[in-house]
Amino acid sequence: MMLKKFVDPLPVMETIQPSSYGRNTLYFEVSMKEVMQKLHSDLPPTKIWGYNGRFPGPTFRVQRNQTLQVLWKNELPEEHFLPIDSTVHGANKDNPEVRTVVHLHGGATPDTSDGYPDAWFTKDFKEVGPFFAVKVYTYPNQQPATTLWYHDHAVGITRLNIYAGLAGAYIIHDKKESSLSLPQVPYDIPLVIMDRSFNKDGSLYYPSQPDSPNTYVTPSIRTNFFGDTILNNGMVWPYLEVQPRRYRFRIINASNSRTYQLSLSNDNPFIQIGSDQGLLLAPVNVRKILLAPAERADVILDFSTMSGQVITIQNDAPAPFPTGDLPDPDTTGVLMQFRVSKQLLSTDTSKIPSTLNAVARLEERNAYQTRNLLLNMSNDQYKREIHLLNNQLWSDPITEMPHLWSIEIWNFINVTEESHPIHLHLVRFQILDRQRFDKEIYQTEGSVVPIGPRIKPEANEQGWKDTVCANPWEMTRIIVPFGPYTGLYVWHCHILEHEDYEMMRPYVVIK
Ligand code: C2O
Ligand code: CU
Ligand code: CU
Repeated sequence: MMLKKFVDPLPVMETIQPSSYGRNTLYFEVSMKEVMQKLHSDLPPTKIWGYNGRFPGPTFRVQRNQTLQVLWKNELPEEHFLPIDSTVHGANKDNPEVRTVVHLHGGATPDTSDGYPDAWFTKDFKEVGPFFAVKVYTYPNQQPATTLWYHDHAVGITRLNIYAGLAGAYIIHDKKESSLSLPQVPYDIPLVIMDRSFNKDGSLYYPSQPDSPNTYVTPSIRTNFFGDTILNNGMVWPYLEVQPRRYRFRIINASNSRTYQLSLSNDNPFIQIGSDQGLLLAPVNVRKILLAPAERADVILDFSTMSGQVITIQNDAPAPFPTGDLPDPDTTGVLMQFRVSKQLLSTDTSKIPSTLNAVARLEERNAYQTRNLLLNMSNDQYKREIHLLNNQLWSDPITEMPHLWSIEIWNFINVTEESHPIHLHLVRFQILDRQRFDKEIYQTEGSVVPIGPRIKPEANEQGWKDTVCANPWEMTRIIVPFGPYTGLYVWHCHILEHEDYEMMRPYVVIK
């Protein structure tokens, strides 16, 4: 079934309002609910799980240093509507089927509120996981202005819970950023990108079997999932009518496995002003933006000279990335459409200043140590492919224990054929460089022999990050100051099918 493109307007998620105001905190209650939601005018309503019954959930907009308290409530049914693989760690039949825990991605959050995968809870907190800590989460928001997102993180079923709809945008504003006169609400719009597949009756389709027939497990986890339909803010291939002026879009790749390489159909560049953890040093004109799962790009689109034009956002990233099939230009190669059809309401007073943010580069020589961390593959007992971090399982003893405020270099050595977007909770980091190494020598002798120079990241990857794309047969080095809290966190690949199946490890920041 092929859905018509550009027939529904782009929804803009509503901004959530506090349920009460404390002394120095704002208090929110958010309920996860199963609802039927229209995702395209020609589709019957689709069963989804949404925060406050919306997919994506409502957008948080907070000021830096404003503490938030959130009570996340699970009001979901007791049965999952997507296929759970009970051979996956944490998803075994002794555990309740529907478990949730909420993580603020990119947030510098105390560990008791960080949404540790084992800190799950069921409806009305009837059952809780082995690491359950607190009911009401605290978000101190002491970090600079940026675009974060919140999503489910329950061990063994994160891919299914997020696929069902449990994700939303979380924006931190601060005075410095406000003083820059960038486009503001309603011209500041989060764009949550996801791929999905549908059954004829409009329900979400998620396969219960992998493509390769080498398993007798049903349902079985897959190594990747790619939908054949692209949704923006929960609508299939929407359009947005815009005025001839500047807009700010905060693009969030909330897809399970799909990496996008975005471009505009009129060949104009995006003016990228920010990445995962805040504003870049200066705006960068980029014709193509690569966005792996969980990465964000903060961009300005200037429609001021485009009255009457129709522009689409396109995608030409292979799936799996980077060696898989190219997207179909008619389906997964398209995200959404802009129509510059509205009258200019008032003069556009927004600006794009030539400098945005002081991003001091971290120096390699200030690092206390380097950890070499393999991104590798193996086979499980059912002969399925399994992705690992440093050849270890989620349940193996903790091996990464950085000291509070120590600076470390983590060197990801990817010996698989797929890029892995590696994410560390709690911290922000910078990308030092990427360097290729000899695949044949590695496969025959097991040693890592670099070929070619260490390549510095492009300007739009030189800001603060929390997720980094580690490409096949490359070493990707990041430099990380560990803080601002001690405690138990995780690092993992953000391809959800990998994360759920062992490509995730706990780590501890110690005193
Ligand atoms: Cu986006 Cu561990 O998370
Ligand atoms: Cu995270
Ligand atoms: Cu991965």
